[in-house]
Amino acid sequence: MTTSVTVAWEDHADLVVVGGGVAGLTAARAASRRGGRVLTVSKGGPTDTATQYAQGGIAVVAPVGDSVDAHVADTLAAGGGLCDEDAVRSVVSAGPDAVAALRDLGAVFDTAGDGDIARTREGGHSTRRIIHAGGDATGAEVQRALGAAGLPVLFGATAARVLTGSRGVTGLLVLDSRGFGVVHAPAVLLATGGLGQLYACSTNPPGATADGIALALAAGAGVADLEFVQFHPTVLFTEGGTGRRPLVSEAVRGEGARLLDSRGRSITEGVHPLGDLAPRDVVSRAIADRMRELDESHVYLDARHLTGFAARFPTITAMCAEAGLDPGRDLLPVAPAAHYSCGGVVTDVHGRTRIPGLYAAGEVARTGLHGANRLASNSLLEGLVLGERAGTAAALERAGIPSEATEIPDLDPVSCDRARVQQVMTRHALVVRNGDGLATATTDLDDATSGDRPIDAVRLEDAALTVTARALLLAAQRRTESRGCHTRSDHRDTDPAQARSAELRLDAAGAPIFTTPELTGAN
Ligand code: SIN
Repeated sequence: MTTSVTVAWEDHADLVVVGGGVAGLTAARAASRRGGRVLTVSKGGPTDTATQYAQGGIAVVAPVGDSVDAHVADTLAAGGGLCDEDAVRSVVSAGPDAVAALRDLGAVFDTAGDGDIARTREGGHSTRRIIHAGGDATGAEVQRALGAAGLPVLFGATAARVLTGSRGVTGLLVLDSRGFGVVHAPAVLLATGGLGQLYACSTNPPGATADGIALALAAGAGVADLEFVQFHPTVLFTEGGTGRRPLVSEAVRGEGARLLDSRGRSITEGVHPLGDLAPRDVVSRAIADRMRELDESHVYLDARHLTGFAARFPTITAMCAEAGLDPGRDLLPVAPAAHYSCGGVVTDVHGRTRIPGLYAAGEVARTGLHGANRLASNSLLEGLVLGERAGTAAALERAGIPSEATEIPDLDPVSCDRARVQQVMTRHALVVRNGDGLATATTDLDDATSGDRPIDAVRLEDAALTVTARALLLAAQRRTESRGCHTRSDHRDTDPAQARSAELRLDAAGAPIFTTPELTGAN
């Protein structure tokens, strides 16, 4: 069902930022500093962002006993051969300045006994370089510092379409309580976060519905590496729990907690030299394999021997108390859950997509930093660095572009019901997948897709989830190997011939198609 849009309101800006987390607010600040009007639109309220929930910290090169080379090497090792080394080096090198800028804004990080910033370790890191705030509330401090001083933000507003003309972006179609509106602008910057709501259990907030991927695809941009969904190994397990699940930060293992099965055996011994601090894909896969072997729904995290747990991890202590658990006394039941999209909208390291005036930064973007598996705590780092660069690029590159008459397209968002998408993806596209299951999932989604529902914010989200699920399934079917976060039980080995990203866009009928050659064919 195609719906023609009646525009109830209009606004003008030099840049519209979509999303109010670390990347969006950093970008909005960077662009504002260069003059011009920047409007941020955000679906929820000021703290309804994934940033708010980030626990572990920010990975940033430590001044002593660390180096850019070491951080780059750890990122490449975690990334399963799919990182772009230049992109990694570019982002990692910019980390210390990005953190200094955040501290200038008032962000306060935890300090050690000597007064220096405290640093912890997480999976895949060869040294203690993760800085943190409030113990395990780093994201909340980042959100507070970035949001503190008045940026114009339109809360409760869902982006429906990026509008384009002959010179690229002309504005953004938005739905809020007034109805549809158009913000006329020569630049739109997507900072919408992730896609965790594709799955029944995720660490992501309810708004993580892949909106930026759908907006970029509809505008004609490319997406890549969607098959690499990172499942966090230690999400607190409660029987029947769905939706946003409580994370038990990897920093808990960084401080010495151990992963055990119900028989008291180590999960990771003999699996990887870094043991429980192996990269996240390795640990999640080891847990999934052990759960299947024992036919159990979870494993355990043993933090009982750690001293000062409540002071170091106050958020996790409170979450555990809500579930009737005391980390000093109890083994914590944990299982992997959807956490982070390593792929996304294809951009360069300044957030530029191939559509003039369309930028993306943060989790929604695929810069080549993460490859097939993101290194722990490189996400807040990326949000800070790419937010700053993309906001700057948008402000400088799109200044003075004359406004164009904006044609409002009819909307025909085909969508599945969200519960159905989550059911299909959770059954067939979890930590370990196979070709038959992925094909079944695609058919199930196609059968359940309808264009008949009235357009509201929920339907726009469901449509974003649906198109992203279809693209993800297509990418996962084509990658007939196991690499990083993508494990195929029917192709357990890594195939060196497939050490490439596959890029997708939408065809004229709105179906995802590849723009890059077969992975197994000639380069
Ligand atoms: C965690 O605290 O374990 C999550 C950090 C991250 O996702 O990088």
